[in-house]
Amino acid sequence: MIDISTTLGPLRLRNPTMLASGIMDEDAGSMQRMIDCGAGAIVTKSIGIKSREGYANPTVIELDHGILNAMGLPNPGIEQYGEEIKKLKRTKVPIIGSIYAADADEFASLAKKMQRFGANAVELNVSCPHAKHYGLEVGCDPDLLHDIIKKVKGPVSLPVLVKVSPNIMNIVEIAQTIEKAGADGIVAINTVKAMAIDLQTARPLLANKTGGYSGKAIKPIGVRCVYDIAQAVDIPIIGVGGITTGEDAIEYFMAGASAVQIGSAVYYRGPEVFTVVCQEIKTWMKNHGYRTLNELIGASFQ
Ligand code: SIN
Repeated sequence: MIDISTTLGPLRLRNPTMLASGIMDEDAGSMQRMIDCGAGAIVTKSIGIKSREGYANPTVIELDHGILNAMGLPNPGIEQYGEEIKKLKRTKVPIIGSIYAADADEFASLAKKMQRFGANAVELNVSCPHAKHYGLEVGCDPDLLHDIIKKVKGPVSLPVLVKVSPNIMNIVEIAQTIEKAGADGIVAINTVKAMAIDLQTARPLLANKTGGYSGKAIKPIGVRCVYDIAQAVDIPIIGVGGITTGEDAIEYFMAGASAVQIGSAVYYRGPEVFTVVCQEIKTWMKNHGYRTLNELIGASFQ
């Protein structure tokens, strides 16, 4: 019997595939569908204090080897989105509320609300590569990040995960700061800052000009970040970036991840991707003599 259940601190997951923030997580209905399709946990879209419209179209473009997006953190605001979380309260899988803010007080207030609405953990988005005052602008500053995590951990009892960016030189220092401040896990990585230009019009393809690149092409970047972080911290790491197949997930486990998030592959393989990837993981483990996920986590370290 192959066991692919996993734990992230106090969170127990029936399997290690989580829905990544920003895809199919507009409302309770779409998130429930991902649960029914086998996701082991759900991360909501990133929610702020107030509603935000996001950028003008085009916001998403499919490129040859991945997807380029600059949505601009569109969301209805925490009070309205809270209704969606309440509807999922009785689901069997952990619901992780993704939140973004510009400072520690706002992050703490959002985290308290996520807890009140019934989320099982929060994920701090300090890595969106193209939102002024938010995301990466917050997550590249170790002192600010430390303050934010401390401030969030004070009033909430939920596990706190922090999603980091690959677009920085000091990812290991940032990871150590996150652990030292008391966070419960690190999610690596968010999208890679990128751009594409239309040759006919000589204009950037995205209305925002630059965006974040995801999908198969960024997997080696994600694997490298997870590996480097895993050498430096003891808290669980969740790998994300280009995971499309069971073998992609196994590579992340061997790099040190305890679970993985799937985003772009929902587009490429459909919502059933969670069940399919889990089956592919089990088949690979069976064929290679592994029985539990723990045997795989960090297997590349020797
Ligand atoms: C967006 O809303 O533009 C993407 C969010 C993110 O990259 O974190």
